[in-house]
Amino acid sequence: MSTDRRGFLNHAALVTAATTLPARWCRGKDLPVNRKLKMRFAVASDLHYGQGNTPYEKMAEDMVGWMNKEKENKGLDLLFINGDLTQDKTEMLLSLRDRHLSKLKMPYYCNKGNHDYLSSKKGSLTESWKKIWGYDSNHTVVHKDFAFVLADTSAPAKSNVYLAANRDWLKAEFKKHAKAPGIFSLIHIQQRKHKVAGWPEHGVSDLTQIEKAEAVMDLLESTANVRGVFHGHNHNQNSMWISGERRYFFDSHVGGSWGAAKGYRIVEIDEQNRMMTYQVNAEKGEEINRNDLP
Ligand SMILES: [Fe+2]
Repeated sequence: MSTDRRGFLNHAALVTAATTLPARWCRGKDLPVNRKLKMRFAVASDLHYGQGNTPYEKMAEDMVGWMNKEKENKGLDLLFINGDLTQDKTEMLLSLRDRHLSKLKMPYYCNKGNHDYLSSKKGSLTESWKKIWGYDSNHTVVHKDFAFVLADTSAPAKSNVYLAANRDWLKAEFKKHAKAPGIFSLIHIQQRKHKVAGWPEHGVSDLTQIEKAEAVMDLLESTANVRGVFHGHNHNQNSMWISGERRYFFDSHVGGSWGAAKGYRIVEIDEQNRMMTYQVNAEKGEEINRNDLP
């Protein structure tokens, strides 16, 4: 994918509401309202549980409430928590898990964010992601033939280093699931550099990571059955960006001290594998944008 073409498509991403997108990228509103759903999942991120001067207990409780309500009202197969579950305090991962996430009424999977610190103490309950959650920080979940590939972009205990995802690992996972009707990739840190080609800030920025992260985007954009990529980290973003023919989505945030209205993202897949996604402004209880996943 040439940089020029990327630039063009990134520009297109800025005007997603406009009618200039190809017809097959019609908005999800065009799908029949009464279509039968095969799967419904949610993506939420950035709880920052434990951050000083924020009502973090309430915010975690709110998220659990939103998700359980989704499950009760419309059904929810899975929840993905896309990084920054906590705010630099290792032991908070356990408190969040045991005090709040244990109340979720659907299976949930956690992606590691740059504020989620592991302990360097050998034998500690938080010495590895696997010890806390039962799976590694690079991890694939399969549900109803769909693959959800969660890729780690964080240093073990440093919030200011944003890493490229492990391209070799991603490539091997994509190969394993080449016949899946769809792959969704969850990556906490936006792999496009801060403000390049019209993209928002807070992307990969370290000079040693930029090229590697672009190679990850090339892989995401050249793997035919990757249907959507989900990022957290940037609390201001709650909509879609396009690069190549791939769609990248943000979901605002659940906690922390800054950002757009708090909320989460829903993805719905019907029996013909038609997919669409929308963001929910949970503060107002309303849908705020909707896009197809062609
Ligand atoms: Fe983050």
